[in-house]
Amino acid sequence: MKKILTYGTFDLLHIGHIEILRRAKELGDYLVVAVSTDEFNAIKGKKAYYSYEDRKKILEAIKYVDLVIPEEKWEQKRDDVIKYGIDTVVMGSDWEGNENFECLRDICNVVYLPRTEGISTTMIKNDLGDKKLK
Ligand code: CTP
Repeated sequence: MKKILTYGTFDLLHIGHIEILRRAKELGDYLVVAVSTDEFNAIKGKKAYYSYEDRKKILEAIKYVDLVIPEEKWEQKRDDVIKYGIDTVVMGSDWEGNENFECLRDICNVVYLPRTEGISTTMIKNDLGDKKLK
């Protein structure tokens, strides 16, 4: 069985998230999604609208997702790849060449997929904040 792993916050789930999960799953048979915890987001200077527990439940309801695990620190990736027997780590192209992922190439494949254009959690937050959708 070919196992895939991807990382992200996945707040205010949108089509870009669904598309990366769908394409990640296509690369193998079993998709593990490591979701940033609220504490890890605070370290990164981010604050999700939905709690980690709610983001986890939402992701678990998606048919492409087989397992959701917490992402609690930058350094856990190597351990995750080994623990879950991961063949390929997949990220959106905004992470292309990032050393956090490049350094895994000795133990697994690292693939960057093009981002879906025109959507992001930040954009949704800004648009709703501007009340453009009212
Ligand atoms: N992603 C994507 N296409 C988008 C938005 C996100 O392919 N339009 C991918 C990212 O590249 C990442 C994963 O989805 O691999 C999770 O991204 P995340 O940071 O949670 O979503 P964003 O919408 O980029 O959130 P933010 O605006 O807060 O950065």
